[in-house]
Amino acid sequence: MKKKKTSASRPSLTVNRKKEHVEISLDEDVTHQNKSTGFERYEFIHNALPELHLQDIDPSVDFLGRRLSMPLLITGMTGGYDGAVKINAGLAEVCESKKIAMGVGSQRQLIEDESQLESYRIARKKAPTAPIIGNIGAAQVIKGIDERGLRKMLDIIEADALAVHLNALQEAVQYEGDLNFNGVLSGIEQLVTRLDIPVIVKETGAGISFDVAQRLYDVGVRYIDVSGAGGTSWSAVESFRKRRGEKSGHVQRLAQKFWNWGIPTADCLTETSKITGLFIIASGGIKDGIDVAKSIALGASMAGMARPLLKKLMKDGVKGLSDEIDFLKKELCLVMFLTGSKTIASLKQKKLIRHDV
Ligand SMILES: Cc1cc2nc3c(=O)[nH]c(=O)nc-3n(C[C@H](O)[C@H](O)[C@H](O)COP(=O)(O)O)c2cc1C
Repeated sequence: MKKKKTSASRPSLTVNRKKEHVEISLDEDVTHQNKSTGFERYEFIHNALPELHLQDIDPSVDFLGRRLSMPLLITGMTGGYDGAVKINAGLAEVCESKKIAMGVGSQRQLIEDESQLESYRIARKKAPTAPIIGNIGAAQVIKGIDERGLRKMLDIIEADALAVHLNALQEAVQYEGDLNFNGVLSGIEQLVTRLDIPVIVKETGAGISFDVAQRLYDVGVRYIDVSGAGGTSWSAVESFRKRRGEKSGHVQRLAQKFWNWGIPTADCLTETSKITGLFIIASGGIKDGIDVAKSIALGASMAGMARPLLKKLMKDGVKGLSDEIDFLKKELCLVMFLTGSKTIASLKQKKLIRHDV
């Protein structure tokens, strides 16, 4: 007799959605089109007299109380479905061996049920000494996360920080999206007071403006990840999703129309870096070590990458991704050498020339 599927054995909406997002990100070109990060507008001033030995360049930094080999974070992407165990294991293995930081994807699923717990726990198992960042969405912050749920999310990965992702665009172009963004800021403020680890507020590819960064700072947030436009577009990802049950087709059309919405990453940096005391992570379209260096000179303290590194892992495995991180570090070190910057603190002081195109 054929076994009847019970609701307990059926994967939840959140599980299916995460799997679909990862698959679309790997199979389709979901980057912003006709819009770039803006980094191409900036150029370092070449220093023909660096007065340094290339081997003495030191790109290491402190992040969340741990020493990193360079200012790089693989930003939160996945967790919460079967295939995510392997992905997070691979990402974590590379983060541990290359001494860089890692974020896990949204832990919303973990609050709903524990069936996919291992897909998050594996990150800490494989990266015992790397900074690992938990992740939750604005919608959950509004609804409120009870103490048990919050502790579970953080303890399972021994989180060094919790990222709250702002994804108003993505939710609005999602057939089943959460459309209520009232009360996000006060929800974040409550999290900042409740937690004894930092709260990092991040966007998901549409960018953080000066005004938003200031409002976050005013409620106590000290870490932001601008996640600006020029890399992965979540409106693009949503436009590729199958929409069972949507009759008008309007949500899909909106997703296509808003494909390029957002503030270019470089502009997010020049604006948000006006706020003193804010630790800024630059992400959204970072493609190499030169972009990492430009991010630092534009005011960031760290850079983050998501989709390009996921693609590399899925195509060339842990070894391929490790090699890519080594190359990225060489690019960063070469920029530091050619600008006479022995340390990241020195690179931060370097001026960039802006070319308006
Ligand atoms: C497959 C995939 C899944 C993602 N899932 C999450 C998530 O769960 N939580 C989150 O904060 N950001 C998520 N992001 C957004 C990234 O962390 C990052 O902000 C965004 O992709 C821009 O970086 P990129 O241009 O380097 O991809 C995801 C990105 C990708 C590609």
